[in-house]
Amino acid sequence: MDAITVAIEAAHKAGELILQHFRQPQEIRMKGPADIVTQVDHDAEDVIVRTIRQAFPDHQFLAEEGHSASCDADFLWVIDPLDGTRNYTAGIPFFCTSIALTVKRRTVLGVIYDPLREETFSAEAGEGTYLNGAKVDYVKKTSMEQAIAYVGFLPARHADDAGLALPMFTRLRPAVLAMRKMGSAALSLAYVACGRFDIAYHDRLDAWDMLAGALLVEEIGGVATDFGGRPISVTSRDIIAANAPAFHAATLRIARQVLAEVDSPTL
Ligand code: IPD
Ligand code: CA
Ligand code: CA
Repeated sequence: MDAITVAIEAAHKAGELILQHFRQPQEIRMKGPADIVTQVDHDAEDVIVRTIRQAFPDHQFLAEEGHSASCDADFLWVIDPLDGTRNYTAGIPFFCTSIALTVKRRTVLGVIYDPLREETFSAEAGEGTYLNGAKVDYVKKTSMEQAIAYVGFLPARHADDAGLALPMFTRLRPAVLAMRKMGSAALSLAYVACGRFDIAYHDRLDAWDMLAGALLVEEIGGVATDFGGRPISVTSRDIIAANAPAFHAATLRIARQVLAEVDSPTL
């Protein structure tokens, strides 16, 4: 089986498990001041790693709930078994599984699976972006005034250290049609790739939140970089992604203004 087929199979197995426990009572554990985890996050990670390892026993895994490996591994799978855990535990239907494969730090495939809607977003480098096996194709918006921008920021308890997301929000809002925040960074990127959102930005993420989504966006002709304009990699911590290069450039300009103001503290 090729790697993309294995990744999709692993994501679907995790999705099945995630759905079985959705809106069922579960124990919520704190991982950090505002970071929660459930047994489902762990079990979903285990089923994904087991499935991929069976096909590729020599590959390495970097995953949110415990698997770790060097970013420089030749074949590194980067996995968020359940992105949107806060939504999941609250019964809010917006979460997904995200799986990417990097080869010597280059992302070669990405899969994001939304089990509730049975939507599988997938991309291989150079091959385009697919939704449930059909190539994603839509008429892109031509002006920022029509764009929907997704904003990601840290949970409320980090409000004293909100990063760049809030000043970004203030600057971007007047330029677009609408802003959205829905609690899953990975799914927000998949939605940018298929034209539901047009722009997404997030700071303080981990590679497993964004590698797959960044590839999905690039493979429909969009652009994804960090706030400094560098390509997304396994060490990136923030992202600006847009399905039209002009939207990315405009958002990056705003990020640069925000960064400059943070340096010469007017914010
Ligand atoms: C979180 C979600 C959320 C984002 C957080 C992430 P998790 O991932 O993607 O939208 O704002 O920064 O940590 O914890 O649900 O996997
Ligand atoms: Ca996540
Ligand atoms: Ca997660």
